[in-house]
Amino acid sequence: MIIEPRMRGFICLTSHPDGCAQNVKNQIEYVKSKGAINGPKKVLVIGASTGFGLASRITAAFGSDAATIGVFFEKAPSEGKTASPGWYNSAAFEKEAHAAGLYAKSINGDAFSKEIKEKTLALIKTDLGQVDLIIYSLASPVRKHPDTEFLHRSVLKPIGAPFSNKTVDFHTGNVSTVTIEPANEEDIANTVAVMGGEDWAMWIDALKAENLLANGATTVAYSYIGPALTEAVYRKGTIGRAKDDLEATAFKIGDQLKDINGQAYVSVNKALVTQASSAIPVIPLYISLLYKVMKAEGIHEGTIEQIQRLYADRLYTGKPIPTDDKGRIRIDDWEMREDVQAQVAKLWEEATTETLPTIGDLPGYRSDFLSLFGFEIDQVDYQKDTNEMVEIEGLV
Ligand code: NAD
Ligand code: NA
Repeated sequence: MIIEPRMRGFICLTSHPDGCAQNVKNQIEYVKSKGAINGPKKVLVIGASTGFGLASRITAAFGSDAATIGVFFEKAPSEGKTASPGWYNSAAFEKEAHAAGLYAKSINGDAFSKEIKEKTLALIKTDLGQVDLIIYSLASPVRKHPDTEFLHRSVLKPIGAPFSNKTVDFHTGNVSTVTIEPANEEDIANTVAVMGGEDWAMWIDALKAENLLANGATTVAYSYIGPALTEAVYRKGTIGRAKDDLEATAFKIGDQLKDINGQAYVSVNKALVTQASSAIPVIPLYISLLYKVMKAEGIHEGTIEQIQRLYADRLYTGKPIPTDDKGRIRIDDWEMREDVQAQVAKLWEEATTETLPTIGDLPGYRSDFLSLFGFEIDQVDYQKDTNEMVEIEGLV
């Protein structure tokens, strides 16, 4: 069928299999163009189908010839209805990995559940024996707690006081002021339950208990900090509490892995257009100004550039891993550069519906958003009939 983007609010209801496949191919080519990394050999990526997790899987496989197991939660296609983009991304990844002679298998289901953990552990046991890198890259609005069965819902709210600031509707380009009411204690606890470190620790506990972690194994989870402009709604808001918890969990896991010479890190990544970040008020305006500045400075990166740099310049250099004073790896270093932030802060003051087309990068924002769903990719012929019923080769 012919597939076109169908937007509803902040989401796109359709995705394009060929566009998603081309995205994956482009990321693979990028990693190969940067040369081999003396990196991991057997990798588990939790949240492997889109965003930073997909880039982590691609970098491990095509930068270091690693065997990879990917866990994700995606919608399969049905006749006349497209799959979610992560399904098509994973299908393309598996195909390319197998063609390159690499081991790759995938598990589609709720990573927070006991069942999916057990399934993943069993697969590692029979196929890989052990893993030496575990990437934790889940982004979810909900988590059903495996012990209590309670369905926690995360919220994106400030804490303590209402927060007002500018925001943009990136579809229309309309800049307005938004006010977000503060969270209550329950909101905070729920957000920490979904996006904090508890589930990451549960994964590592389970892997370790079954002796599935190689000596010297590394585990990395992803975080974000960002500037003062977005602090109230991000780092000092409910999601920030969850990230504080995730970062604290890295130390607990690190202690727990000492006997196998293992290590646990949080990597602080750059702000990028994803389905999740598009739904946070204020952030899309920040990103559209940030993109403009970083592109002008020649330092703009997408997920694959970020993660290739994480592996090549931080994790696998053969030297100690550089961290900040809180033990975090920083690949948001270019975003947070003083000159970059000074320029963004100045543009922020100037941003209105009238000025944004000149001072911001809304076209870049929109095109990144559509490309998440496989649309507006250069090499793809969207007039061509395409098959939505794509299977994932290594799906277990
Ligand atoms: P994403 O939405 O692109 O990826 C989320 C992944 O999690 C997908 O593979 C999805 O299938 C999987 N997933 C979601 N719920 C699941 C479940 N219940 N079971 C199994 N898999 C599930 O998100 P992303 O932007 O790549 O975010 C990944 C991490 O990076 C998050 O911790 C996020 O906070 C962090 N981060 C994001 C940004 C940004 O700007 N987007 C910046 C810095 C850090
Ligand atoms: Na991810």
